Amino acid sequence: MTSIFRDNLLKDKVAFVTGGGSGIGRRIAERFAEHGSKVVLSGRKQEKLDDAARSIRAAGGTAETARLDVREYESLEAALQKTREQFGEIDILLCAAAGNFPALVSGMSANGFKAVIDIDLLGTFNTCRAAYPHLRKPGASIISISANHATMPIAWQSHVCAAKAGVELLTKTLALEWGPQGIRANCITPGPTDDTEGMRRLAPTEEARRAVERNVPLRRFGTKEELADLALFLCSDAASYITGAVYVSDGGQSLCRTGAVAAAAL
Ligand code: COA
Repeated sequence: MTSIFRDNLLKDKVAFVTGGGSGIGRRIAERFAEHGSKVVLSGRKQEKLDDAARSIRAAGGTAETARLDVREYESLEAALQKTREQFGEIDILLCAAAGNFPALVSGMSANGFKAVIDIDLLGTFNTCRAAYPHLRKPGASIISISANHATMPIAWQSHVCAAKAGVELLTKTLALEWGPQGIRANCITPGPTDDTEGMRRLAPTEEARRAVERNVPLRRFGTKEELADLALFLCSDAASYITGAVYVSDGGQSLCRTGAVAAAAL
């Protein structure tokens, strides 16, 4: 599906993407490439990265891959340095790497909680910190993918709730600290998004999907395309005065803090 925006909004820009091999990260990276940005896709699984890069190149875009885990700082540093050498300063940093599994606090080990904090929160810090020397100043745009978990306590999701709340405050702090150098930092906060690993884990059956939809005022899942266009807007010149913002794209789900039963009656 093509973007609703005019062509080539990101001509000659350079984007570095974590979690770029699949899901929301991949779709946003594809959108960036469709609009003329060179993209470096990073992630843990080389096959997924290769597949995403192949599809971008087949559509006429420029893509490279970097196999890494955002929990390993030195591998991020090396990949970002390489990106700089190959393409120049980085205009867009998309932090989309994330981990998730459903577990009650009482059924989760300290290491399980830490795994998600390390990927989502520390991984976002690592990516931004390692990218800092290579970001275009002024002009760079950082986008971190949060989730409604940041503001809605969700049972079975304590690790993600804690991590995403941290990601949103980290983003606002980066906006404060790096704003004077012309670096913007914003969050995209999706609600339930179709065709993602997260929703396959959290709503694996049709019944679970219907229950999720009943709790969303727009009564449907969001799409990766909708998030890709929001990301495109946020890193375009149209958003040049926007920093420290959290853009929620969730069909209104976060308005329904009273729970599934009350929301279904809306
Ligand atoms: N219930 C309870 N604990 C779980 C679990 C589950 N379903 N899945 C993993 N854990 C625990 C493990 O038991 C382990 O803790 P332990 O050492 O005390 O036993 C800890 O989490 C780390 O698991 P491990 O599989 O070694 O971590 P990993 O680094 O290989 O994987 C995860 C990270 C756990 C987040 C994994 O789900 C993952 O790789 N996810 C990536 C894809 C994804 O989640 N996408 C959706 C994003 S929204």
